[in-house]
Amino acid sequence: MATKILKSKRFGYAVVGLACAAACATAAFAGPNDNKLTIDGQEYVTELPAPEGSPFDTIYSGWRFRNEATQAMEMDDFDNPGFTNVESGEALWSKVDGEAGKSCASCHNDAAESMKGVRAQMPKWNEKAGKPVTLEQTINGCRENNLKAKPWKWESNEMLSMTAFIGSKSRGMPVKVQTDGPMKSWWEKGKKLYYTRVGQLDMSCAGCHEDNYGKMIRADHLSQGQINGFPTYRSKWQKLGSIHRRFKGCMKNIRAQPYEVGGEEFVALELYVASRGQGLSVESPSVRN
Ligand code: HEC
Ligand code: HEC
Repeated sequence: MATKILKSKRFGYAVVGLACAAACATAAFAGPNDNKLTIDGQEYVTELPAPEGSPFDTIYSGWRFRNEATQAMEMDDFDNPGFTNVESGEALWSKVDGEAGKSCASCHNDAAESMKGVRAQMPKWNEKAGKPVTLEQTINGCRENNLKAKPWKWESNEMLSMTAFIGSKSRGMPVKVQTDGPMKSWWEKGKKLYYTRVGQLDMSCAGCHEDNYGKMIRADHLSQGQINGFPTYRSKWQKLGSIHRRFKGCMKNIRAQPYEVGGEEFVALELYVASRGQGLSVESPSVRN
């Protein structure tokens, strides 16, 4: 516990320094590196001209801000620790579970076909629910309604394995979330949250990931905070983690009360953050530090 407090204190000092204009001018700036992400011979889009309405000129995957050792782990599926989960997810896909006596495969057959592109479009509008749903919520919807099985916990190994497995079927495809129609008000809500200053350090997501990306914060190289790689294996977590876990961690670091995992704020924020990365390749499961 003591080290935790100490750590967040140190982080706090770093942030206070960052917020100060003079310190920012002298803070080390090291933009994204120029490395190319290739997996299995396929080149991934980690950089592209920003979509219309974006605050950036160019958008970058978080992969471009990691050091070469971390980058290398994502480039080889054997070295990518997230692939253990992809394999477990594949086993769960065809495992009969729940009172209906079915597996995911009973209805969706080969995931390589049926789940192709699904990750790239999440969160997605759900007509029945009358709101956008994340990949986790969609999976649990099928578990409860179609398998008649208990929902998985958001951050459970089963859920992370299934999101990694389904996500891997969209690898290399461009992020393409819907932001118009019924999604518009949710997108706007997410945008508002992104720019709202919160916490004891009175900072917004944009204060770090928009105004200061490329700079060093402690020993960490600040990225644009994109979510094209989730679920993500982090050496700090020693396992995969969800988008909402990462959002929660960032809010805690600025000593803000995080929103609820799976709640409307984080779903709206997920939609908005996804839209800031339209066109980046899906990297699920990615590797970060
Ligand atoms: C009884 C049949 C059935 C079973 C079993 C089932 N699903 Fe579904 N699933 C559906 C239907 C119907 C839809 C909605 C139609 C659609 O959007 O393609 C759907 C939609 C989905 C979607 C969204 C697809 C998209 O294009 O947005 C995902 C992801 C999904 N299911 C995952 C799973 C997983 C994981 C399991 C096992 C835990 C599972 N499903 C079990 C019938 C089923
Ligand atoms: C005090 C600065 C700071 C604030 C404020 C902040 N973050 Fe972060 N965030 C970081 C750091 C440092 C990292 C790790 C390095 C990186 O990838 O940028 C990170 C990582 C991330 C990542 C992972 C990116 C990847 O490629 O895997 C996401 C997503 C993210 N943040 C989203 C957010 C959101 C959403 C908010 C607002 C709720 C937020 N952050 C607020 C500092 C911050």
